[in-house]
Amino acid sequence: MYSMEIIAAISVLRERLESEQSVAFVPTMGNLHEGHLALVRLAKEHAKCVVVSIFVNPLQFGPNDDLDKYPRTLADDCTKLRDAGADVVFTPSVSELFPVPQTVSIALPAISTQLCGAFRPGHFSGVATIVLKLLNIVQPKVAIFGKKDYQQLHVLRTLVEQLNLPVLIVAGETVRASDGLALSSRNGYLLPDESEQAIRLVNNLHQIKQSLLAGVYAYAELEAQARTDLEVHGWRVDYIMICAQKTLQTPLADEKSLVILAAAWLGKTRLIDNLEVTIQG
Ligand code: PAF
Repeated sequence: MYSMEIIAAISVLRERLESEQSVAFVPTMGNLHEGHLALVRLAKEHAKCVVVSIFVNPLQFGPNDDLDKYPRTLADDCTKLRDAGADVVFTPSVSELFPVPQTVSIALPAISTQLCGAFRPGHFSGVATIVLKLLNIVQPKVAIFGKKDYQQLHVLRTLVEQLNLPVLIVAGETVRASDGLALSSRNGYLLPDESEQAIRLVNNLHQIKQSLLAGVYAYAELEAQARTDLEVHGWRVDYIMICAQKTLQTPLADEKSLVILAAAWLGKTRLIDNLEVTIQG
């Protein structure tokens, strides 16, 4: 009979996973929504045993970030994970993962200081450090990350590649509400009138996508138009950038695989989103 286990101790988790031939791993910070559950279902396609971690990682929050107010909804999360078919939920405490202060951290290449990294110093090093720790603890065959956090996915692929980690990274598609808004734990912070406005971010990304597909490659102009549209509607834009999917840098002239990345504030809530664009021909 199927039963999901909730384990908080590293030693107990290691013992539980000892006999598993193949494990797929979905790291999360909890407050789970349909986007996370889609990653869990994707994980089930890759391994018999699916482990999901729930840990709000202090290393990736800056001094002005929302660490304390980040929603902790463990009981509800576990119900959702049971329904989605997770096998093990790893719920370590801060002291379990950091029995001594974490003085070792991952130094990342320049991309970690660009895009979101330019606005959240140290964020990606904090993500890479905790993900490396979790991968070492769980030792999965496959680890699943969402494309919603496109730059995070890029950084973690680089980590795995350059540190020769024996894990395959699989990317899950962004899950969107019926109006197109990308699901995110941070959507819960939006005030009712902001929720209606939130869709403007992805709508602007769609506008840029349509222009690119129509052969308009004036990147700076397209980015500026979207920025202006958001700003006149009260948003504060961190960045809107058209990048090459592989490098997250300005695309070369003949680049076909593009991604439009954006981060912007609506009131007190910072939203990020992205759209991939493949130019034909
Ligand atoms: O994407 C997230 O929820 C977090 O950044 C992750 C990968 C779980 C690391 O804390």
